[in-house]
Amino acid sequence: MKAVIFDLDGVITDTAEYHFLAWRHIAEQIDIPFDRSVNESLKGISREESLESMLTFGGAKTKYTNAEKKKLMHLKNQYYQTLISKLTPENLLPGIGRLLCELKGENIKIGLASSSRNAPEIITRLGIMDDFHAIVDPTALANGKPDPEIFLTAAALLGVSPADCAAIEDAEAGISAIKSAGMFAVGVGHEESMLGADLIVRQSRDLTLELLNEEWEQYRIKHF
Ligand code: BG6
Ligand code: MG
Repeated sequence: MKAVIFDLDGVITDTAEYHFLAWRHIAEQIDIPFDRSVNESLKGISREESLESMLTFGGAKTKYTNAEKKKLMHLKNQYYQTLISKLTPENLLPGIGRLLCELKGENIKIGLASSSRNAPEIITRLGIMDDFHAIVDPTALANGKPDPEIFLTAAALLGVSPADCAAIEDAEAGISAIKSAGMFAVGVGHEESMLGADLIVRQSRDLTLELLNEEWEQYRIKHF
């Protein structure tokens, strides 16, 4: 294991909840139904695709022009940015600071593969910007998760072969992307959203370098 590539929202910090609150705010504004189960399917996917899915679920797929959709996305992002403006290093999820230290201590490369255009601001506020050897710019990609492009780009930026990378995700689209990239997939959360993951932990505090190394060895024995 020469590199670990992190998703951001819902893995490093609880901004997955902020995305939910911001989309729910928009759904209320335009008076369409929205709930946590719909939100589950939005995790990991782009702002544009999220709005399309939300409108489809709410029965408003053809109701808005492109200009109106742009406005809705802008409003969602404004609401979201007021939430992230309050983030501090205290908002790192339990165990993440420790894991980053353990990885640095073993000279394992650290990458970020987040679909969010707000990622640089968030990791700066969390005080961990300098821990990353590579951060993928999601606006430069042709395909979002579940396509593997974002994880393959992170590996290329880190100069590590995908087979030598582990990647950590909290969403179904993300786990699929990691597996299609040929990497060791770690899922954080409930088993039902982590189909295909090579290792599943319930909470971020369970993510230790020792556990990753042990499971990595088992995975190598089984697959190579
Ligand atoms: C992903 C989130 O990390 O980023 C999605 O899981 C979000 O919920 C996507 O829609 C895009 O984020 P942003 O900040 O660019 O709107
Ligand atoms: Mg996520």
